[in-house]
Amino acid sequence: MEAQPTAPKAACVVGGTGFVAATLIKLLLEKGYAVNTTVRDPGNQKKTSHLLALKGSGNLKIFRADLTDEQSFDTPVAGCDLVFHVATPVNFASEDPENDMIKPAIQGVVNVLKACAKAGTVKRVILTSSAAAVSINKLNGTGLVMDESHWTDTEFLNSAKPPTWGYPLSKTLAEKAAWKFAEENNINLITVIPTLMAGPSLTADVPSSIGLAMSLITGNEFLINGLKGMQMLSGSISISHVEDVCRAHVFVAEKESASGRYICCAVSTSVPELAKFLNKRYPEYNVPTDFGDFPSKAKLILSSEKLTKEGFSFKYGIEEIYDQSVEYFKAKGILKN
Ligand SMILES: NC(=O)c1ccc[n+]([C@@H]2O[C@H](COP(=O)([O-])OP(=O)(O)OC[C@H]3O[C@@H](n4cnc5c(N)ncnc54)[C@H](OP(=O)(O)O)[C@@H]3O)[C@@H](O)[C@H]2O)c1
Repeated sequence: MEAQPTAPKAACVVGGTGFVAATLIKLLLEKGYAVNTTVRDPGNQKKTSHLLALKGSGNLKIFRADLTDEQSFDTPVAGCDLVFHVATPVNFASEDPENDMIKPAIQGVVNVLKACAKAGTVKRVILTSSAAAVSINKLNGTGLVMDESHWTDTEFLNSAKPPTWGYPLSKTLAEKAAWKFAEENNINLITVIPTLMAGPSLTADVPSSIGLAMSLITGNEFLINGLKGMQMLSGSISISHVEDVCRAHVFVAEKESASGRYICCAVSTSVPELAKFLNKRYPEYNVPTDFGDFPSKAKLILSSEKLTKEGFSFKYGIEEIYDQSVEYFKAKGILKN
């Protein structure tokens, strides 16, 4: 067997208050990394409470930084071997996506990468992109297979401006800006492309993505419509467990042969198919199964073959993702015990 290089021991996680970053920081601490994380407001006790709790399980330092403040990443990134750029501005209700999401996302990528280039110690940068940067296009049909060679059609988003267009556009343009900067500045960059995530969260507030994934169970009509909109715009309901996505971040960071983009998707399905599965597994929640003429099949699936061929294996399938999310919602008092 090929000997694996010794794991680097200092990592920076940009955006420690977020859903994904919280679990990523926990995994890194468990693996013995010293972790620097950045937050916008270290004085926000609610948003940093999980980080203060994680301090007990390892060497975790919290720094103040904002994606739009170029200098603010210099100190947290200094001396790190790995940098995980997880943060992104998210505001689906924005009336000004250009200034609320697109510009700060691109500026953030460039500012973080500039700090990495300046530090001189950073061996690899892992950027959290999104399936929203891959699967949005004008193609028709069902059973299409999307892999890392596919990019979301930004011309379509810019001209048609479908609901929530600002977020996928910000993720696509930010990832493209990262690749351009990395190439021009000789930075070893890898992007992880996750789908909608669920599973328990360490954060004090319940992340909106779990609310969306759980909407068929909670019966929240607004979010069920959001889920339908997601299938129509992005071509499928693709879901992964947050822990698997974080494991994939660490896996590609440590795997010397890894390069390029990696889709991380446990399952691709449609709203009607997901509803059928949930109705059967949790009969007590009366999940609706009649969606009229809404497309019963997903247009596409997102392939994680590149990631699994590299040696990664998913720990959680659709059953575990939902069993754990249901338990999490019960613990939070959102679902009855
Ligand atoms: N959750 C999903 O289902 C999903 C799916 C695909 C891809 N992703 C990607 O995964 C990453 C993490 O998502 P998440 O669900 O963990 O998001 P989240 O919980 O909403 O966290 C977003 C993070 O970005 C930070 N942030 C926003 N604007 C910032 C700014 N101007 N400066 C510094 N930090 C800023 C937020 O800080 P504050 O707390 O200060 O606002 C927060 O820590 C994102 O890149 C997202 O696009 C997520």
